[in-house]
This record gives sequence, structure tokens and C-alpha cells, in this order.
Amino acid sequence: MTLGGKRILLIISGGIAAYKSLDLIRRLRDRGAAVRPVMTSGAQEFVTSLAVGALAADHVFTDLFSRQDEQDVGHIRLARDCDLVLIAPATADLLAKMANGLADDLASTVLLATDRPVVAAPAMNPRMWAHPATRRNIEFLRRDGIRFVGPMAGEMAESREAGLGRMAEPLDIVAAVETLLDEGPKPLLGRKAIVTSGPTHEPIDPVRYIANRSSGRQGHAIAAALAALGADVTLVSGPVTIADPVGVRTLHVERADEMRDAVLSALPADIAVMVAAVADWRVASAADQKIKKHPGESIPTLALTENPDILRTVGHHTLRPKLVVGFAAETEHVESNARAKLERKGADLIVANDVSSATGIMGGTRNTVKIIGHDGIEQWPEMDKNEVATRLASLIADRLRQE
Ligand code: CTP
Repeated sequence: MTLGGKRILLIISGGIAAYKSLDLIRRLRDRGAAVRPVMTSGAQEFVTSLAVGALAADHVFTDLFSRQDEQDVGHIRLARDCDLVLIAPATADLLAKMANGLADDLASTVLLATDRPVVAAPAMNPRMWAHPATRRNIEFLRRDGIRFVGPMAGEMAESREAGLGRMAEPLDIVAAVETLLDEGPKPLLGRKAIVTSGPTHEPIDPVRYIANRSSGRQGHAIAAALAALGADVTLVSGPVTIADPVGVRTLHVERADEMRDAVLSALPADIAVMVAAVADWRVASAADQKIKKHPGESIPTLALTENPDILRTVGHHTLRPKLVVGFAAETEHVESNARAKLERKGADLIVANDVSSATGIMGGTRNTVKIIGHDGIEQWPEMDKNEVATRLASLIADRLRQE
């Protein structure tokens, strides 16, 4: 019950993603939170207040001028009687109102009146997200201290358009709320951490690339778990479709050489956790133009060249962090391969997982790992990638404490 006793004021504004808010309410309540819903009139066009109220097991507040609601609770109390205000989905319109301090309905009035932390999960058409007006509003809101989770890349529900604008998944939103409300011990306060995550994309030509099945889930979860223990985290992420973790500085890169440069520019640090599934090879000379097929001509062969090994570079760097952690994705001889990797890459710990196709780990949500250090091996039971992250973060904190 990570959110036990916490009171979340959930503002649902009018976008197609409002249907995901129903799941979000369940997930928040599963973790022990009390959810009090506020719906804009637009939101009520997409989901009914009956469904929202039933899932939240609370009255749904919709009207600024409701005599009954004002007598019972009142909009100022609504804005303050909670631990956090969550807006999901947050439409371009609501964000614009917030950025300008408008208060012409219950949701915007509550947002102007609240003194609680506010998290917004934007959802809109990619062109609306990219519009200079929205960019400006987001910038203002960030400066005002509003935290954002998402949006993510992907196909829109209402059209076949793809791009940034999809609302973050309910579980990512819950993780963001947990991070912000976490009052646990902060043993990593004052420590700097660098985490790599996701795959890399190595171009073949302007439209094709070499990639792998990494989703970034494990690396992103580790970045969030280190931040939850108080670390100042820089996450260097390859192309992924999951949301940037809240409370973490996220740098987006595509290729291995860009990832290496971003990691090196984030040094010095106390902790490095290299989780990214970096492509070992890239195409020796990527074509500037799309490679065309010509009937009757031979099929092209790709000459590959080695990519920089980021973990090895960091493990042997003059600014080597005190604790360097690598991952080993193995399909056989998991332990002996991981031991060899520990030595070769100059790491203190290797988190080894068996990614043989039967396990479904790559791209999945669960993981079974062995932690291999110079002083022995720990086998952890199968668990959720978030739990692996939490345990690894506290192991890292223990190691640094023992120094
Ligand atoms: N890694 C890295 N840069 C690379 C390749 C790997 O930083 N160019 C890091 C990964 O982030 C991971 C660790 O090295 O922490 C192990 O990656 P893995 O691909 O399992 O090992 P390899 O060194 O590629 O060895 P092999 O291909 O033999 O398994």
C-alpha cells in the first residue's frame, strides 16, 4: 500500500484519453489512495460521472456553482484537502488556462486555489502538443512547479496520426504520484547517478535502422527508484515509448555514440547504472539517401563496425563513479558470462538476466536476476521490474553507506 492514506484530487479533463482515467482510479485505489474526482464538462462527454464516481467511491465534483457542493465542501477546501492534485488527462485547453491563471470552471478554479503539488498527464493531438502556444504554456507551468508525466509517442486513439501526445499509461502515472508523495528515507541525498536505458537505433539509411527489443522499463524504473532515495539522477534514454520518470533529468538520444557523449558529459557522478541495450555494432557508413532496390541487382550487404562500449568506458574512466553497475543479457552460461563481464568492463556489480526467448524478459514487465559482485552472487526471485529497481536502489545505497 504505497499510497496508503494519501488523498488524491483527480481532475479529469475532456479528451479521448479520459477512458484511461477509469483504470487510473482503480490503480490508485489498489495502492491505498483515496481518489476524489473533479470532471470538466468536456470530460463528461467522454466518460460518465456515474462510472467515475462508482470507481472512486466518492462524489464527483463537476460544477463551480453547485449550491450543494459549495455548502458541503466548497471549492477552496476541495483544492486543499488533498495530498496531491493529479490532472489526467490534461488537455491543451486546461493547460492553457492554468498557464494563464484563468478560473472559469471548477477544475481551473481548484487549480488556481490549490497549494498542493500538481502533476499533469497531458494528452492531445501531436500537432497541438507541438504548437508554439502549448510549448510556451508547458514552459510556464514547469517554472511554476507543475510536474509532468508524459505524453508518450504512439498512435492517437482518434486518428491514425502518430507522434507525441498520447497520455502516459496509468501505471506510469501512479509511479509518478508515488515518487512525489514518497516520504521514506533518502539515503542517496547528495549523490549523483547516471542511468542508461532503452535500446539504441543505429541508422542504415534515413529510414532504416538496427534496433533491439528493449522497452526501457527496467532502466527507467531504476532511475525512478534512485531518485526516490534522494539521488540526483540523469537518465540517458534511447528511443522508447514509455514516459520520462518524474523527478529525473532525462536526456533523449538515438545512437550509441550519442549515448556515450551524453553519459560522459554527465560525469562526475557517484553511481552509474548502465541498463541500456546498446547495439554492439553500427553500420560502418550509413547511407545519406534511402537505399533503393534495383531489380536484377545484387542484394546489399551491410558492413558493420564496433560501437563504443559505454559501460567499459565509464568503468575505466579517470572520473569513474564510486559504484558502477552493468547489466548482462545472456541466453546461456548466465553466471560465467556475467563474471567475465564484471572484470572486462570494470564494474562493481553485474545484474544478470536470462533473456532466452522463453523467459519473455526483453520487453516484458517481470524479471528474474542474479546480482554478481566481486564478493559473491545473490539470486533474486522473479519479480516485477519496479521491484527489481527498488531492491537494486537500496543495495546501491547500502554499498555506498559502507564505504
Ligand atoms: N553496454 C554498453 N555499451 C555497449 C554495450 C553494452 O554500455 N556498447 C553495457 C550495457 O548497458 C550492459 C552491459 O554493457 O550494462 C552488458 O551488455 P551486453 O550486451 O550484455 O554485453 P556485451 O558487452 O555486449 O557482451 P556480449 O555481447 O558478449 O553479451
